[in-house]
Amino acid sequence: MKRVEIVQIGVGNVGRAVARMVLKERGNWLERWDLDVRYRAVADRSGALGGEELLEEALDLKERGGKLAGLGVEPLRYVISEPPEYGVRRVVLDLAVNGAPYPLDLQAAMGGAGLVLSNKGPLSRSYREYRALTASAGEGLRYEATVGAGLPVISTLQSLLRSGDDVYEILASPSGTLGFILSAVERGSSFSGAVREAVERHYAEPDPRDDLSGLDVARKALILARALGRSLEPEDVPFESLVPEHLVEVSTQEFLQRLEEADEAFAGRVQAAGSRGNVLRYLARIPAEGPVEVGLREVPRSSPFSRLSGAENAFVFRTRRYSELPVTVTGPGAGPECTASGVVYDLLQVARESFERSEEVLKRA
Ligand code: HSE
Repeated sequence: MKRVEIVQIGVGNVGRAVARMVLKERGNWLERWDLDVRYRAVADRSGALGGEELLEEALDLKERGGKLAGLGVEPLRYVISEPPEYGVRRVVLDLAVNGAPYPLDLQAAMGGAGLVLSNKGPLSRSYREYRALTASAGEGLRYEATVGAGLPVISTLQSLLRSGDDVYEILASPSGTLGFILSAVERGSSFSGAVREAVERHYAEPDPRDDLSGLDVARKALILARALGRSLEPEDVPFESLVPEHLVEVSTQEFLQRLEEADEAFAGRVQAAGSRGNVLRYLARIPAEGPVEVGLREVPRSSPFSRLSGAENAFVFRTRRYSELPVTVTGPGAGPECTASGVVYDLLQVARESFERSEEVLKRA
């Protein structure tokens, strides 16, 4: 039996969906791949929980807005300073929203196996930090869920590059929240109603202004550009904000209360595009060379981007081999369950690869 232990950081909407998926599906993984996957610890800003006896209880508690602290049996720092038992592979899942809630040395925490991120933070800071992370985590680093949730975006890009093709450009509509809002307003909903619904469906980041400002798309564009081999800094990816200036500085709660103030202007922009036979989509263009562009664009109704509705994302890869008819990945790109499938995909890949590598080493010895 191949034993895998998870150390999970983040028990928010995505974190809970991942834990529930693991608990539900792991019997299947044991049968199919002889993989025995268990939780070693879960932690967030509210505390840490060692082992998994109380895990279901902890998930229910967090669902109701409670804190992990009362359940904590072992501080996370203690758990990760202990190496995993002999033969056990440890995979750290960083599912926090931005920064990890603990100043973790993630590489040390991995104990040599894997680091899976849905947290875009560690990959979208300075290029120096990005290099340090990718160099130290090596083949154990996976981040499919950072872009397009569970859609195979990073893996498609990596397999195109590994196949010897040249990727000239990625065109993307990578925000579930903005896609949802724009298509809802086109159908006559109000901007404020659409934003609130995107929040309720957990498409949006905890502060929906991180989506509306374009920051979330800029981070995804930076992650894609770096995966494409470009050494860009965050400031190399300017982005256009849809947050009305007078609502930039207020609290999240006040922002959500005052959203109606932006309804008219937003509806006006959508209608103006419609009167020209176009629709508005928030797009990112990531070329292999030249400036990365992120912003609201008018696209004709014939464009594949105009057909997206709800939280659907699309990623179009124009390459040397696929130039006239590019490779396109499209589907639901936000929401806790979709994001959890991306995380679970990475978890299983990283765990299986780690065992395969040691079998190789044994064969060669
Ligand atoms: N807030 C993000 C979105 C979640 O709306 O696309 C998925 O990264």
